[in-house]
Amino acid sequence: MNEAVQTSSPFTPRVFSGIQPSGNLHLGNYLGALKRFVDMQSDDMQTLYCMVDMHAITVWQNPEDLRRATRELCAGFIAAGLDPNKSILFNQSQVAEHAQLAWVFNCVARMGWMQRMTQWKDKAGKNQQNASLGLFAYPALMAADILIYHATHVPVGEDQKQHLELTRDIAIKFNHDYGVDHFPITEPVIEGAATRVMSLRDGSKKMSKSDPSDASRINMTDDADTIAKKIRKAKTDPDALPSEAKGLEERPEARNLVNIYAALADTTVDAVLADVGGKQFSEFKPMLSELAVEKLAPISTEMARLMQGQDEIDRILASGATRAREIAAPILKKTYEIVGMVGA
Ligand code: TRP
Repeated sequence: MNEAVQTSSPFTPRVFSGIQPSGNLHLGNYLGALKRFVDMQSDDMQTLYCMVDMHAITVWQNPEDLRRATRELCAGFIAAGLDPNKSILFNQSQVAEHAQLAWVFNCVARMGWMQRMTQWKDKAGKNQQNASLGLFAYPALMAADILIYHATHVPVGEDQKQHLELTRDIAIKFNHDYGVDHFPITEPVIEGAATRVMSLRDGSKKMSKSDPSDASRINMTDDADTIAKKIRKAKTDPDALPSEAKGLEERPEARNLVNIYAALADTTVDAVLADVGGKQFSEFKPMLSELAVEKLAPISTEMARLMQGQDEIDRILASGATRAREIAAPILKKTYEIVGMVGA
């Protein structure tokens, strides 16, 4: 078993994570999520990865774009190395139990808990009255995504930590209110600095699909020339590379490029610096471009192939949904029984 997911809880270890299908997968998604998810795949632990299309529509989405982004995300997962026979890959709306459990959780969670969520405050902005009710309830649906599988471990980025704490609060309150030990208290597996990819233009900001500058990110669909050009133009500082990680402490842009290199090469920052310490960026950047192209080109080629005929993707999603439902249905039934619903 993956060391990061040892557990002492009585629930069998099961990994769940979700990504919003919002288009434009980039290097940050790959190193921070897809590649980590692939690394967590193992024979003795179930892994479920979900395209959370119901979360996506908490803000309006063009329907054609949503459909395309969902399939593209699925293609990205597979191209990155996820094996749909080992992991359960599916989209959220195809497993109705998510929405059903979310309703129960809407009745467990308190308004005050939701109001404290920083993502709600950021996304709703000044005009909360005009935000969708779904955006407000977003964390209850996220808790349902996780707990409908009794998932014990949830790999996410730092920005989702508060939502995972809320998931624990919902599980604790449900168990307490009904006097049961039904839902596990989930462990967050927070992404480390090593896989957090920052903007190529500003080392203090996360690489993001919504950054207005395309030069700030490497898209999974960029060709070799574009990747090389973006890395050549990436912001750095005038100093040579240090020979140890602590020499990068006050140098966010330099650290980001070395981090990316280490993550792509599956090694540590110190191991990279042992090799390249003392070099100028004019020498390091071409090395990074070459590595990035070598790792990303096969992925984007495979994504393009999968996107050409949708049947394969749609079949994988349908079969993932069937397998997901086999786990979710009995847990929902038990939940309904606990709550007192007749016919459950
Ligand atoms: N809120 C997550 C994000 O924006 C996506 C998400 C939805 C998720 N449901 C989840 C992540 C369940 C982990 C587990 O990144």
